[in-house]
Amino acid sequence: MNTIEKTNEFVFQTYLRQGKAFVRGEKSTLIDEEGTKYTDFLAGIAVCNLGHCHPKITQAIEKQAKTLIHVSNLFYTSPQADLAACLVGKSFADRVFFANSGAEANEAAIKLARRYFQSKGEKSRYKIITMEQSFHGRTIATLSATGQDKIKEGFYPLLEGFVHIPFNDIEALREALDETVCAMMMEPVQGEGGVIPADPLYLSQVRALCDETGTLLIFDEIQTGMGRCGTLFAHELYGITPDIMTLAKALANGIPIGAMLATSRAAQGFDFGSHATTFGGTPLATAVALEVVNIISEKKFLEVVTEKGAYFRQKLEELKEKHSRILDVRGKGLLVGVEIDEDAGFFVANCFKQGFIINAIQDKILRFAPPLIIEKNQIDRLVAVLDNLF
Ligand SMILES: Cc1ncc(COP(=O)(O)O)c(C=O)c1O
Repeated sequence: MNTIEKTNEFVFQTYLRQGKAFVRGEKSTLIDEEGTKYTDFLAGIAVCNLGHCHPKITQAIEKQAKTLIHVSNLFYTSPQADLAACLVGKSFADRVFFANSGAEANEAAIKLARRYFQSKGEKSRYKIITMEQSFHGRTIATLSATGQDKIKEGFYPLLEGFVHIPFNDIEALREALDETVCAMMMEPVQGEGGVIPADPLYLSQVRALCDETGTLLIFDEIQTGMGRCGTLFAHELYGITPDIMTLAKALANGIPIGAMLATSRAAQGFDFGSHATTFGGTPLATAVALEVVNIISEKKFLEVVTEKGAYFRQKLEELKEKHSRILDVRGKGLLVGVEIDEDAGFFVANCFKQGFIINAIQDKILRFAPPLIIEKNQIDRLVAVLDNLF
């Protein structure tokens, strides 16, 4: 049996995979078993932001793997301490809780928001407002938080206490915010929901309403963070900060890690024993993440991401002028969405045949999340392929 047959036989059939097995990656290129090269415009779904097998990341993995991989959170380790101090230094936050994935980082945020109020005796303040079309993960709590019905089918009853409201609609938030709400959770740019950026005025009004009511504001930056939108965290583009933020995906460029960051006020919700996870913040994952954060947070690096994102969107806008089947081009930095008036699957399959990896979301939206080191000539080549397909 080859890799594909073995996978289809023995792995749960929960993923609809494209018919190739990859064996190697280098920068923005993936190579399959036959040696065919593909230009990657997905980066493992916004994970390999520094590209595949970045030498400094490989070096950090090697060095830490030879030194210390895991000891548990019953003890102290310097990579975890250094990464926490680094993230605090580069963000609004005062404390970090380490997890293993995006869903777990969001679980931590949900638990923190509830416990913040319950530990003060405000037991009826437990609801969390989230957005329609949002995506926060696949565990039962994060699925309950997610605002997309189709992925909830078969899992009811979900956790109570989540209220979904339309995105970018401040009146809906005003109406939903009552004395039972502990937090509002949202992505600054909805990723899985269709690459939909929050409106700047909306976000500033959200912050103001949360301040007025003492509601904790949680930003899920699992997809938008780590330079993806041209700033280290997407909310920096809007000039407002949350009380809690979650990270995962690109934080260690492919080594599993999640993080929940909070202000000292919100962090009061957790004390000794209130939350834990075995693998959270291992020396291996945190040493690698520290290297990632140091590279991505360089001003010059982020400027180039912004510039390449603008270049890519401009090229796609030019395609939109030519092809009426393109309805919208949107996004921030190198998180880019193109809404079309037909099945996006056709474009994904045909780009793949021509050596480009792209992705479809919500049936009619093409999503591009290339490694942030993607080159302009690679963008040009993809745009030429798309031009021929429309
Ligand atoms: C915004 C957002 N939140 C949460 C998650 C869940 O992360 P994970 O798959 O690591 O659990 C994702 C994954 O796509 C995401 O895009």
